[in-house]
Order: sequence, then structure tokens, then C-alpha cells
Amino acid sequence: MLVEVFPDYEAISDRAAEIVTDQIRRKPDSVIGFATGSTPLGLYKRLIQNHAKHGLDFSKITTFNLDEYVGLSPDHDQSYHYFMWKNLFDHVNVTPARVHIPQGMADDVDAFCEWYERRIEQAGGIDLQILGIGGNGHIAFNEPGSSLGSRTRIKTLTQKTLEDNARFFDDPAEVPRYAITMGVGTIMDARKVLLLGSGSGKTAAIKATLEGPITAMVPATIVQLHRHAHILVDEAAAATLEYRHHHGITEPK
Ligand code: F6R
Repeated sequence: MLVEVFPDYEAISDRAAEIVTDQIRRKPDSVIGFATGSTPLGLYKRLIQNHAKHGLDFSKITTFNLDEYVGLSPDHDQSYHYFMWKNLFDHVNVTPARVHIPQGMADDVDAFCEWYERRIEQAGGIDLQILGIGGNGHIAFNEPGSSLGSRTRIKTLTQKTLEDNARFFDDPAEVPRYAITMGVGTIMDARKVLLLGSGSGKTAAIKATLEGPITAMVPATIVQLHRHAHILVDEAAAATLEYRHHHGITEPK
């Protein structure tokens, strides 16, 4: 694991943008796994700037998103489709046919999940998977207890997630109860994973991920077994790391 500690969120976003930009420049037809949530927003802002100012070309990349709510149409403002187009894809020159986001409205969700796995394989596998981390150590919608070998599948959302999401919906009946998510095993198949953790809400999860035992109860801990895991954290998220100066951590100059 390569762990880099930065002063703050902006610095993490700068570094993440450097890594993703470099990946696309070196391999214009890269397969990139994208995440939603607040953490990668700074990265996406910078990728948009790199496209506008420096001509970073997204036209040949293939994308796969980690997850999507079941039952939300792509134009619902809480769907991850909507999030990705609004915060990144609409502002760069991605080729829509190469964009993959799980279909929350699929008639046959299980068949869709199998297709998604096959599509990733056919695309040659994911070169670089971007990941956020939940306060409880989840990655994608793989909540504590998720099998570490899992593949893309439907998951029931936890009570906590249902409660957190309720505020975004006018009608409580609309709050999604299920999501389609890449599995932990799917994520581990990516050639590189880039995990971003920022703020005090992530301190315990980062400590467990980097220094705890590998356990399904903290799904992110599986990155300890990945051959090319790159972790970017800020001071707040790194606050309780015991072996900060001993396990491959680099401090930017
Ligand atoms: C997003 C995802 C989630 C988030 C995680 C952190 O596609 O799968 O696992 O990465 O919940 O969310 P934020 O970044 O909002 O703290």
C-alpha cells in the first residue's frame, strides 16, 4: 500500500487529479471505475478543469460506476446516474456508449448484475478504481458483513443509510431500499485502486483499513491485500494512525 498524507481535502483532490490525469494520458483508452459521494467532487472538478484548459481527452476511456439505487430512474436527482453526469460526464468529452452505471430500473436485476460483471471483463478489466470510504469502512455499498469475495449484486440498504437518505426525498415511499453494487471481489480485480479519505468522520475507518485486521466487518480492510492500492488521506483522517511513519507513508514536500 502506498499511503500519502496531505494537509487537507483540497490537497488530496489535487493529488487524486494528478493520478487520474496521468492514467488517462498514459493510456487514453483506460477503463476507469468511478465513485459518487462528496469525497471525489474535488477530483471531478479538477478533471473538468484539465479537460477545459489542457485538453484532457476522455473520449476513449470506458467507465464503470460502483453503484446505483434500485428503483430510481436515471434522471432522478438522487440517482447516481444524475450525480455522475451533473458532476463530471456532462462537462468532459466522454463517449456515452462507453459509460456504465448500474441500472437501477433493470427489470431483471440479477441478470443485469451478471451482465455488468461480463461487461467489465470484456472491457479488459478496470485499470484504476476510484473509491471513497464510509465512516463504517464500507466501500461502494458493501456494508460491514459483506463477503470479501462478493461480485456485483443487489444489497439491502442498512437502516442508517435509509435514515440518512430520507431527507433527500419528499415522499418517504420513494426512499430506495436496495442498491446494485460492485462486490468487494469486483473492486479487488481492478489493476489499481485509489482510495480517498478525508475528514474526522473517516478517522476510525482509515485507522481500521490501514492498521486493523482484514475483516468483512470493515470491508475496506481488503485493500491491504491489493498489489497496487494507493491511499490518499488528510491529516484529520490520518489522526490516529499509529505506524504513520513506518508503513510506506510519504509526506508531500
Ligand atoms: C459511492 C460509494 C460510497 C461512498 C462512501 C463515502 O459510489 O459507493 O461507498 O464512497 O459512502 O461517501 P462520501 O464520499 O460522501 O463520504
